[in-house]
Amino acid sequence: MEKNILTGDRPTGRLHIGHYVGSLKRRVELQNKGDYDNFYIEIADAQALTDNYDNPGRVRENVLEVALDYLACGIDPKKVTIFIQSQVPSLCELTFYYMNLVTLARLERNPTIKEELKMRDFSSSIPTGFLTYPISQAADITGFDATIVPVGDDQLPMIEQTREIVRSFNNIYGETLYEPEAVLPDNSSCFRLVGTDGKAKMSKSLNNCIYLSDEPDVIKSKVMGMYTDPNHLKVEDPGRVEGNTVFTYLEVFAKPEHFKKYLEEYQNLDELKDHYRRGGLGDVKIKRFLNDVLQETLEPIRNRRKELASNIESVYKILEEGTKKANNHCERVLKRVKNAMGINYFDDSKFLEMQKEKFEKEN
Ligand code: TRP
Repeated sequence: MEKNILTGDRPTGRLHIGHYVGSLKRRVELQNKGDYDNFYIEIADAQALTDNYDNPGRVRENVLEVALDYLACGIDPKKVTIFIQSQVPSLCELTFYYMNLVTLARLERNPTIKEELKMRDFSSSIPTGFLTYPISQAADITGFDATIVPVGDDQLPMIEQTREIVRSFNNIYGETLYEPEAVLPDNSSCFRLVGTDGKAKMSKSLNNCIYLSDEPDVIKSKVMGMYTDPNHLKVEDPGRVEGNTVFTYLEVFAKPEHFKKYLEEYQNLDELKDHYRRGGLGDVKIKRFLNDVLQETLEPIRNRRKELASNIESVYKILEEGTKKANNHCERVLKRVKNAMGINYFDDSKFLEMQKEKFEKEN
């Protein structure tokens, strides 16, 4: 059996450093390990439309932004297939047949859907497309025989729904599909980064993100405006490190060589934390250090992004080729699914023979 990895993102905005530490870095690591037959990353524009159907321009524009972010972070199109969901029509067919296997009540119980409904104002009229997107996500995964799905924990209900569909399908139509496993981030290489305001999550609507494409002066002003310890008013005051956004970010981004380069008085983050706790270390100093660290980390990504953006045709080409490969793969799986269901009228000669006999007898 092939070992296929699939994951994806909704293209509703540029990607930020929360995406970088939460998923992109890990994808690059997985890519470089090379322990797979196929690795797909889906730009889930059709799924993004389920709650942006009235704003297709937003989705359309962000398909390229997200592709640029992937490539700038080091996703290598020679090793990973990046494709656009809406351009793989077999996914719709799979979705259509899976719909028979899922009840409305089951969809309404999905915790992620419930959470998302709370945040959107569909009020009592939920679009069918939105409620059923977990079924289409099951098509995304099974359409490529993916068994490994690297995602954040918010996606676990989607994987569970997929597994249920697979079991139900195999029960009714015979062993055809594979059950996927979610692979959650482990904390050493991956992290859910808080926003610059210390809120639980970076999110465009909260305006607390640092984007991979941000210019140096923008990064600097976002860092200098970050939340620290609200009781650390004067430099001499003892300060809290826990829940202090600047320290949270330093934990994720600061490496020993950064101390050597930008803050020689300290060997490492522990020494810096100790000083902050004792008092006598000002917020401006730790923010300047974080700014240096982030500038150094993001500069190569931003530069590579600009380089790629200056040749946008080549990015389009990558997406086009990836989508072609995705179509081939998904069409093969769809064929298997239709065979299992017996809706393969024109390439089932045995069935035709049987029908011939049946009608001959009847006559
Ligand atoms: N639902 C995912 C998100 O909102 C995006 C997505 C679509 C996805 N299809 C997928 C993730 C398949 C993993 C596998 O981020």
